[in-house]
Amino acid sequence: MSMPRREFLGACMAAAASLARAAERMPLNTKVVSLAEEETLRQAAQRRGIKVGAAVSSEQLLRDDSFKAAVLRDCALLVPEWELKWATVCKGPLQNDFSGFDAIVRFARENGLAVRGHPLVWHAAMPDWALNEIRNGNAARLLDEHIRLVAGRYATRVFSWDVVNEAIKPEDGMPGGLRDTPWLRALGDGYIERAFRIAHEVDPTARLVYNDYNMEYEPAKAKAIVALVKKLKDKGVPLHAVGMQSHLWTTRRKLDLPGLRDFCRAIVREGVEVVITELDVRESDFDSSAEERDRRIASVTGAYLDTVFAECVPRELVLWGLSDRYSWLSKPKFNPENPQGLLNRGLPYDREMRQKALWQVLMDKIRSVPLSGKQI
Ligand code: XIL
Repeated sequence: MSMPRREFLGACMAAAASLARAAERMPLNTKVVSLAEEETLRQAAQRRGIKVGAAVSSEQLLRDDSFKAAVLRDCALLVPEWELKWATVCKGPLQNDFSGFDAIVRFARENGLAVRGHPLVWHAAMPDWALNEIRNGNAARLLDEHIRLVAGRYATRVFSWDVVNEAIKPEDGMPGGLRDTPWLRALGDGYIERAFRIAHEVDPTARLVYNDYNMEYEPAKAKAIVALVKKLKDKGVPLHAVGMQSHLWTTRRKLDLPGLRDFCRAIVREGVEVVITELDVRESDFDSSAEERDRRIASVTGAYLDTVFAECVPRELVLWGLSDRYSWLSKPKFNPENPQGLLNRGLPYDREMRQKALWQVLMDKIRSVPLSGKQI
């Protein structure tokens, strides 16, 4: 039965008004595009030898369809945000739980994506039982067993491993600027070489990465990382890349772009690649408009990528999440700049899974890289 003409026109007017109101609510810098025709980050990057990736959890992939769709559109690489951390996989000496990363690996395989293993050796997210073992003289055995257990379980299925994470902290005053950790106290600086050699023995196919943060803000840290890399390479340690976590700041800290340029050059000069492993942007000013905040986030990321891409083409460009919906930087315990737990807008998609200015700047900077003539 057809609707009377007057009623039909009234319904159209109401629908138009509702759409107009919705458009007003949407920040100007986001855009709802029909994603069918738009080139994806994954497509643009892989034509330039870059794998774009994101940190995820198995639950996000299995339960959040809109998030999963964005991952499948824009990512060629997944990394577990926390499901491969020691405290997650080895809750006790014989109490292992690999279900989370197993699910991520399965999802990646079923969808033609690669995975990163993160991390094998870190000072954080360590269960008490393991810390006690390290302090009780069993550090070497524990290190070896953990790497053989974890890297062995996923051998040949992991594109790259963050073998050692965050081992440099000059302010701790240790030789070589090393971070004062239970590993260092138990084994000396040799634990780093040991970890890489065992990881390579267990999984010779994987690219082995030393991963750290703030080399783009702290010259002393950058210098200490370069010195560590040189020392490892001089000893023939199987180290393939340095991971720059790339947790950038909008206002609180100023990027040291010349220092970042020199750091990339120095690493490449050692015959070691540079990869981006945890890119996101930490906000300090939550009072400005969403548009202004998104503009700042895109601007600092653009400057960062311009500097890195001028020196090298990272084979991995991994974000620490894909959507603000799950950003760790919205949690006060991980972001001292955000004690109220406000939404941090430092990822390419907003909470409603709409692309933001950051998404566009990632695309623009990836497209600024010459085509490599090969798909990866
Ligand atoms: C963080 C995750 O984002 C959190 O969800 C988790 O609870 C703790 O670890 N550098 C790293 C990552 O290498 O492993 C950290 O990830 C963030 C800082």
